[in-house]
Amino acid sequence: MVQGFSREPGTHGPVTAASPAGTRKITWWAATIAVGGFLFGFDTGVVSGALLYIRDDFDLNSFQQGSVVSVLLIGSVLGAMGAGKLADRWGRRRLLGVAGAVFLAGTVVAVFATGYGMLLVARIVLGLAVGTASALVPVYLSEISPTRIRGRLLTMNQLMITVGILVAYLVNLAFANGGDWRAMFACGAVPALVLVVAAAWFLPESPQWQIEHDRVDQARSVIASVSDPATADRIVEQVQRRIVDDRAKQPASGSGRSLWAPDVRPALILGLTLAAVQQFGGINTIIYYAPTIIEQTGLSASNSIFYSVAIGVINLIMTLVAIKLVDRVGRRPMVLVSLAVMAVSVFLLGLAFVADFSSGLTLLFMVAYIAAFAGGLGPVFWTLIGEIFPPSVRAEGSSTSTAVNWVSNFIVSLAFLPVANILGQGETFWIFAGICALAFAFVTRFLPETRGRGPEEIERDLDHRFGREPNPRKTVQTP
Ligand code: GLC
Repeated sequence: MVQGFSREPGTHGPVTAASPAGTRKITWWAATIAVGGFLFGFDTGVVSGALLYIRDDFDLNSFQQGSVVSVLLIGSVLGAMGAGKLADRWGRRRLLGVAGAVFLAGTVVAVFATGYGMLLVARIVLGLAVGTASALVPVYLSEISPTRIRGRLLTMNQLMITVGILVAYLVNLAFANGGDWRAMFACGAVPALVLVVAAAWFLPESPQWQIEHDRVDQARSVIASVSDPATADRIVEQVQRRIVDDRAKQPASGSGRSLWAPDVRPALILGLTLAAVQQFGGINTIIYYAPTIIEQTGLSASNSIFYSVAIGVINLIMTLVAIKLVDRVGRRPMVLVSLAVMAVSVFLLGLAFVADFSSGLTLLFMVAYIAAFAGGLGPVFWTLIGEIFPPSVRAEGSSTSTAVNWVSNFIVSLAFLPVANILGQGETFWIFAGICALAFAFVTRFLPETRGRGPEEIERDLDHRFGREPNPRKTVQTP
């Protein structure tokens, strides 16, 4: 919850609500939920190595190879779009379990694929699960997190994504000798099972969702299990008040606020822009095409897998740094520094190609760029997506922003090689530098700090930044 789990509305400074044992329990829940992020990373990463052998087994031409990679992204867009509505209807926990089952089904179809067509089906099914998990996990994490450590727990999503990517690269390495691509995919079955089992037996439903669906007693007992009954009562009351307040904003529809309502627009504009920027800054050209790019710096192809593993490690280490920082220095400074360093390093990376610098220097700029992304924009985007939307439209807001993130990912990964062929590799990186610079200006103006704040405060700051008069009804309190 419960944004405000550890903080009274209107007071300053944290009031510790979750006991130390409670905090440990919540952290376990969060780590389990974030297995959804792990599978996101694993299933997007594993194909890069597997493809080399699938290509030979099924005799695929280059278009077919590309489609094996990219149909997953199409599935992800659809999965992300559907996730919001389903998460509201079925609950966060049940949808996470269903996503786990879909991961499992996609994995089985991939492992037993008898040809190209069946493999495409498997990749689309995996994509549906990846998209669902990517939209759902931030919402679920946000709703079980006390404010004090919400950033850290939300960042766990990106941590698990990067661990998933790294494990996928390592699995590729492990099975590379025998060329066993089926075994590479099969490894994804283990975390998928974990998700199904955890959702069925261990994870609590989000108290926010329970209260919205009149399961107040269940919500109270979830909160009491990590704090105490009095705190549980207080938080439930606080959330109920917020829900009534929220519903009062749209009496005409009678069904609460809509994501498209004018007073949600600032959050929506911010969410969609950040989603696009996170991809149009160019990160996945490096994550997906690192070996190809590194080869062009003059290094041998045999070193390329080794370097992709190294990139995976840097990605992971810097994400750990981000987790340490996110609840201390806050989201805004992290995103700003991240974008600034990304802009400079990807500009220099472009220059290295245009002016033919040494391969060592080129690698250095590439590493700086990955590190800058992983230490800021990468994880903090997924944090913010669980925070900036008002609770009643949080799942839908996350789902829509995540879908835009996947569409942008699809466009950039598809367009990168052809555009680089026309403009040149270096010049293409300059486009990314320009986008990061523009994004820096946008974030400076429009991104509120969310650290330590509840939904009402975040909404007020957003209104202020977007030049909207605060809605007087926002301050309505129920007796
Ligand atoms: C973020 C991006 C994802 C990318 C990953 C790399 O999660 O959303 O597209 O592959 O970071 O670490």
